[in-house]
Amino acid sequence: MQKIKAISYGVGVIGSMVAKTVIEKKKDWLQIVGALDIDPSKIGKDLGKVVGLDTNHNVSIQNDPEKVVKETNADIVIHTTSSYLERVAPELKRLAGCGVDIISSCEELSYPYATNRKIAEEVDNVAKENGVTILGTGINPGFLMDVLPTILTTPCIEITNVKVGRQMNAANRRIPFQKKIGAGLSPDEFRSAIRNKTISGHVGLFQSISMLADSLGWELDKIEILEPEPVVLEEKVGSSWITVERGKVAGSKQFAYGIINGKRKIEYEFRAYIGAGEEFDLVDIEGTPRVHFKSTPCINGDSGTIAMLINNIPKVIEARPGLLTMRDLTLPSAAHIQIS
Ligand SMILES: NC(=O)c1ccc[n+]([C@@H]2O[C@H](COP(=O)([O-])OP(=O)(O)OC[C@H]3O[C@@H](n4cnc5c(N)ncnc54)[C@H](OP(=O)(O)O)[C@@H]3O)[C@@H](O)[C@H]2O)c1
Repeated sequence: MQKIKAISYGVGVIGSMVAKTVIEKKKDWLQIVGALDIDPSKIGKDLGKVVGLDTNHNVSIQNDPEKVVKETNADIVIHTTSSYLERVAPELKRLAGCGVDIISSCEELSYPYATNRKIAEEVDNVAKENGVTILGTGINPGFLMDVLPTILTTPCIEITNVKVGRQMNAANRRIPFQKKIGAGLSPDEFRSAIRNKTISGHVGLFQSISMLADSLGWELDKIEILEPEPVVLEEKVGSSWITVERGKVAGSKQFAYGIINGKRKIEYEFRAYIGAGEEFDLVDIEGTPRVHFKSTPCINGDSGTIAMLINNIPKVIEARPGLLTMRDLTLPSAAHIQIS
């Protein structure tokens, strides 16, 4: 079998975990042939060492996308630089101009036509002109609060309401995630960091609700995204990165709604904080028949994201050109799993 050649673009925590997983566990069908980052401390270094392998991988991290795509003749770029569509759009257009497919963990790229149609159409046009496919995916958005509830509606003949929830102990997540949910701040610092956009909380609820509503053919009057709130616990909690004193912020909770005729027809709750007792993913569909799905513990967001980025690569390569979403791909599944 011809191996798929991939470039790692943005060798941060997620990019490193993806590259390490590919090199250690997926080498029978996928190989990392190039690496890109803007961090000067990584440029020129060997990818293997940067991602924590004992040996060199003989791929040096560079910062010139055109050169790396041309030299490696890669099939796909695994893009893990930022959460925001406006920020990644120039990176995506530049890569698409090189004629290479892209799979990205950018949250706002997961359902981009819902939030910024103009930018999404520009990226889509460049992708089509160059015959490449671009997909935004990940665990959430990308699977747990959009694709999974959408699939779970399939056996329903009538639906009156959909509730989707996720609660996780953020101590089990990577440090950038613990930072973006405000762990360790005071409640006041948390609120001003959210308003100044120095932390974001979870990004993607608008995209997830839009995908579900579009899949059901529901025309929402409004999507209401409430501001992330701090979760403050009565006891001291900690992760391997931080100790959170009593009264400080352990993480955040967020609520969002899809509204029709003044009624909350879609209800989302997202809680991520250090010390969360119960971890779960929940989808509750009030309809005929009722569907109630609960996974306890919740699916780990970091390893889940790595899997989503790797498993969807063959589907992206087979897909038609354009800026696609998970709704455009064939039925999602793991790929090339070894029988053990
Ligand atoms: N959809 C999902 O389910 C999901 C799940 C996990 C993560 N994510 C998202 O994926 C992204 C990556 O996460 P992370 O934790 O790995 O973040 P991270 O550790 O900050 O990694 C991002 C890396 O990309 C580099 N970078 C930034 N802009 C770049 C550019 N224009 N060209 C090349 N490299 C660039 C950064 O360099 P500097 O450090 O110098 O900026 C950093 O090395 C985040 O936006 C995160 O929210 C999504």
